[in-house]
Amino acid sequence: MSYQNILLEQNGAIATITINRPKKLNALNKATLEELHEAFVDAQTNNSIRVIILIGAGEKAFVAGADISEFSNYDTAQGADLARKGQELVFNLIQNLKTPVIAAVNGFALGGGLELAMACHFRVASDNAKMGLPEVSLGVIPGYGGTQRLAQLVGRGKAMEMIMSAAMITADEALKYGLVNYVVTPEELLPFCEKLASRISRNSSTAIAAAIKAVNANYNKDINGFDEEIKQFGNCFGTPDFVEGTTAFLEKRKPNFK
Ligand code: COA
Repeated sequence: MSYQNILLEQNGAIATITINRPKKLNALNKATLEELHEAFVDAQTNNSIRVIILIGAGEKAFVAGADISEFSNYDTAQGADLARKGQELVFNLIQNLKTPVIAAVNGFALGGGLELAMACHFRVASDNAKMGLPEVSLGVIPGYGGTQRLAQLVGRGKAMEMIMSAAMITADEALKYGLVNYVVTPEELLPFCEKLASRISRNSSTAIAAAIKAVNANYNKDINGFDEEIKQFGNCFGTPDFVEGTTAFLEKRKPNFK
């Protein structure tokens, strides 16, 4: 499939998805969300992709939010539909993807942009990044999972403050809050994420997929996380990666996961 709003690149086992509307600070319009859905579904079924890095085009923004020009005349039903479809098709899809997704937050990550970064499995920011959920300054609230994921990542008090104030925080503050795992210079951001991705890609992708399911189970009211862990743990014993990983250890060699 050819894309108009995103770029897709693969280098070995690492795929990079770039949101590519730099003139609009990579704001998420409907077409971009649809393309992101397609790209993540495709990447997940492509066995040669072991890790995905998500970044914004240009030097200014990761994503400056949902495209405000598209929903400013929506009514209540259309608003709810926008949030529901976005959550299902993109944000929940990424959180539950079996392939690890690293957000490389290379500038503004606001509203839907921060929500997109938070849906990824973890985040690395450049030191010029600014993050926030400014929705209440527009008379609306975060609708792509932001009220839930921000509180999960930084705690209820900080999440309440960030959402109520609509203020932006710096990359260093985000690091302090646990919202991002690392802060590096803009030049270092992609190489740093690629290094992390490369390390992850050497491990068992079936075990990583099982770990993602187990960790995410804690955030799903309908699933008992400990039970899910037991189930996923057991499933691992039936995989070729388990045979290869344990055999390689006992033979004192590096595993070669297929
Ligand atoms: N939706 C639609 N367009 C957006 C956008 C968004 N969320 N964020 C930025 N843009 C557009 C601007 O309208 C502008 O387009 P134009 O050149 O056609 O006028 C372009 O991107 C550049 O943005 P601009 O505001 O001129 O850049 P800036 O450096 O002065 O300010 C921001 C940067 C991020 C502070 C500012 O763009 C902003 O506040 N954006 C909205 C953030 C937001 O509220 N997001 C949550 C949405 S729910």
